[in-house]
Amino acid sequence: MGAPAAPVPGTPDRHDPAQAAIAAGLDPARMPRHVGVIMDGNGRWAERQGRERIDGHRRGVEAVRTVVTESVRLAIPRVTLYAFSSENWSRPRREVDFLMLLLADFLRSEEPTLHANRVRLEAIGRLDRLPAEVQYELDRVRAATAHYDRNILSLALSYGGRDELVDACRRIASQVAAGELAAAAIDAATIQANLYTPEAADLDVVIRTAGELRLSNFLPWQAVYAEYVVTEVLWPDFGVTAYHDCLRDFQGRERRFGGL
Ligand code: FPP
Repeated sequence: MGAPAAPVPGTPDRHDPAQAAIAAGLDPARMPRHVGVIMDGNGRWAERQGRERIDGHRRGVEAVRTVVTESVRLAIPRVTLYAFSSENWSRPRREVDFLMLLLADFLRSEEPTLHANRVRLEAIGRLDRLPAEVQYELDRVRAATAHYDRNILSLALSYGGRDELVDACRRIASQVAAGELAAAAIDAATIQANLYTPEAADLDVVIRTAGELRLSNFLPWQAVYAEYVVTEVLWPDFGVTAYHDCLRDFQGRERRFGGL
């Protein structure tokens, strides 16, 4: 294979994120730094097709791939996907087992896509509750992609926003008990520093598919100034056009962060 052909002067370079944004009707200067997605509607998608719920989850993997690759194309540095909540453990055993198998398969099958797009995989949540096979694949892919620094895919797995804050409080309490930290010195920065991914920027936008108007315990600390964009599109049908629509909706909002 030879070197890629040089772009013809004056024609948009399709691999230039700014050109990709403009082509999508987006302002490259106002792209979100951190997008969160509540992927909902897999079950409804399957029911509407007269299929089993697990078929909806299977199809949902394609939408995950679309959002990851399109986020790279648009130079969105971090995307957090709500893949399995702490509440999802209460679903029927068969569905939970299927989701865990799907996750392990996803980690194996999508690793080449992550490398091709130079995406670092991260995971947040009470990961020790996940089956050993999923933990093994997560550790493996996280280590294999740890050197990529421009784009991050963070999977929220066995994740609950309250659990994250409880875990942060426990860590802070043990620092106080050890005499390393004065209780009076605890501030917002202390809490931020004890979250699962302290370095992650606040969410700029939370996208929720399938129409529900709820946060569902998703990144409450990080979402305090996020814009909420809700689409009726069900997750397995969420493609590039729907993603662009959500990002344009976000860019149309006026963000004041409590000021005037
Ligand atoms: C919500 O739809 C979706 C989930 C609980 C699981 C999300 C999983 C995927 C998108 C596929 C796997 C993802 C990865 C990262 C491998 P729902 O079942 O609650 O839908 P419903 O509200 O219509 O029943």
